[in-house]
Amino acid sequence: MTDSPLTRRALIGTAALAGAAAVLPEGLAAPAPPRPAATDGFRIVTSGNGLEAAKAAREALLAGTDPLDAAIAGVNVVELDPADLTVGYGGIPNEEGVVELDAAVMDGRTMKAGAVAALTGVKTPSKVAKLVMERTDRVFLVGAGARRFATAHGFPDEELLTEKTRKIWLYWKNRLSDLDDWIEAAKDAEDPDVKEFVRKYGKGIFRPQGTIHMSVRSASGDLVGVTTTSGLFFKIPGRVGDSPVIGAGLYSENGVGSAGSTGRGEANLLTCGSHTVVEHLRDGLAPEEACLKALRRIAEKTHHVPRHRDAKGRPTFNVQFYCVDAAGRTAGAAIWSGSKYVVGDAAGVRTLDCAYLHERDA
Ligand code: GLY
Repeated sequence: MTDSPLTRRALIGTAALAGAAAVLPEGLAAPAPPRPAATDGFRIVTSGNGLEAAKAAREALLAGTDPLDAAIAGVNVVELDPADLTVGYGGIPNEEGVVELDAAVMDGRTMKAGAVAALTGVKTPSKVAKLVMERTDRVFLVGAGARRFATAHGFPDEELLTEKTRKIWLYWKNRLSDLDDWIEAAKDAEDPDVKEFVRKYGKGIFRPQGTIHMSVRSASGDLVGVTTTSGLFFKIPGRVGDSPVIGAGLYSENGVGSAGSTGRGEANLLTCGSHTVVEHLRDGLAPEEACLKALRRIAEKTHHVPRHRDAKGRPTFNVQFYCVDAAGRTAGAAIWSGSKYVVGDAAGVRTLDCAYLHERDA
């Protein structure tokens, strides 16, 4: 769904000024329109888990913070929150119980970007991604190299696995096979953290991937984005999804738009989805249609594996795109109904329903 209340307000304001001018006595100049506050006109668009992040980014923008720093400050809230199992500290680990994080930033003013993947021991990988952009002539650092770069810049090597995610990981590992040495205990399933996890993510599936993306359009029209994730639950060590890949997990270009994604990273990697969304904006599509068209491409092109299609040929997975265009129009869209996104502007922050390709069966 598209959300652009300030655009509506701006139009109402323009109409009111035109009306006032019409009743002015002849020869009297119309008063200069009021100058918008320096912070008016900014937009934030982020994934459904980004309500608190949007609030933090909004506060930062209102305080005059640079838009990329504001976006990073926003996602830092979720990266540092152990209750979010899909991002940063407290994210679900890989199959060996190690939390590997991916993040990227892109600055549409300079067309520069920075990214890290399979980074360990840093709660806020988005900050390291920004340092890669600013303090190297490179774009992407991974694994041990990313870790050494973070250490060089003063990031301590911290444990990212919480007691909660350790128990969840151990439960998953113990249930994997009857043929190995890891034995499931009946009491494991009774643990409240495990029960909550199973209730939310399903006993049989256990392989979702959550993420936070945030795009910001500043009051002066600059476009930036950041995406950060702990990636696929219980992934193969070294697996990297779309989030830190420029063009897949995010893409920002001044004068055109900024977009980013959450959901099944492999599907998005294979279609360079966020870049596709921005190209659709360049071609003149409205943000919602740009997101939906990129999702249609995913649905058509990237689910040739039988388990990735349902009986009607639709993807069994979900992907979401979020975007803001140069004019400040925002949208969120998903393959499947039920996804949310969050928009922030001078009026506040609000959670909205994503547009979608397919309605989930009731
Ligand atoms: N979209 C996040 C991931 O696949 O890792």
